[in-house]
Amino acid sequence: MTELSRLAVLGAGHAGPVIARLAIKAGHPVAIATSGDPDDIALITELVIPGARPLWAADAVADADIVVLAIPLHRFLDIDPGLLNGKLVVDAMNYWPASDGVLRPFTGGGSSEVVARRLAGSTVVKALNHIGYHELEDRTRPAGAPDRRAAGVAGEDPAAVAAIAVLVDRMGYDPVRLASLRAGRVLQPGGPVFGTVLTRPEFERAVRDDARSLT
Ligand SMILES: NC(=O)c1ccc[n+]([C@@H]2O[C@H](COP(=O)([O-])OP(=O)(O)OC[C@H]3O[C@@H](n4cnc5c(N)ncnc54)[C@H](OP(=O)(O)O)[C@@H]3O)[C@@H](O)[C@H]2O)c1
Repeated sequence: MTELSRLAVLGAGHAGPVIARLAIKAGHPVAIATSGDPDDIALITELVIPGARPLWAADAVADADIVVLAIPLHRFLDIDPGLLNGKLVVDAMNYWPASDGVLRPFTGGGSSEVVARRLAGSTVVKALNHIGYHELEDRTRPAGAPDRRAAGVAGEDPAAVAAIAVLVDRMGYDPVRLASLRAGRVLQPGGPVFGTVLTRPEFERAVRDDARSLT
């Protein structure tokens, strides 16, 4: 059997552990990290994300094929972009001024486009950001299930988008590919699919009807 891609999930708050659990369930080796000492999350990881390896962020990233950013956007600005050089990065973050504060670079545009510009040495795909963490876990369904829901996957690099679409599919969602990070603005807060869990036809219709997809 071919070995599945190794994930590093940065962030062990609400979203990170759910993403890690879904990836483990899908058969991927997963490491999880915060900004601090992995010993601090060793016990909770064992209890809440059995099978995940708590590591220092740099070690988790070094060992990973795919790095998932599940940290508050204002904390993302602390990350040295060099750490993620050459990596396929899933941006699962959202700009949330109420908790992030006002972050000038992220005001009025696509947050993942700013993330991608900052991570110029990485390939950035926007995914796993638009479904709340409770639902993200509860709404998974196997491929072909009549009530399977959709999840958006946006990026400029078709091979990277395809790889993350496979991951999303294995996690239990119908991936809907969007051909650029700009098109992926529909996935962010204020967009037509943010915070909703839709079937693929509903998702595609919502995206099609949204003015953002025409720009
Ligand atoms: N909550 C949801 O339902 C949901 C769903 C999808 C996407 N998202 C998005 O995911 C992001 C995180 O949300 P959340 O609700 O999970 O936040 P949260 O509960 O506040 O957790 C944030 C986590 O990020 C870690 N962290 C901060 N800086 C880090 C760094 N430089 N390297 C590694 N880890 C770091 C924190 O640990 P330390 O402070 O100990 O470092 C903490 O474990 C947000 O952008 C949010 O919009 C959230």
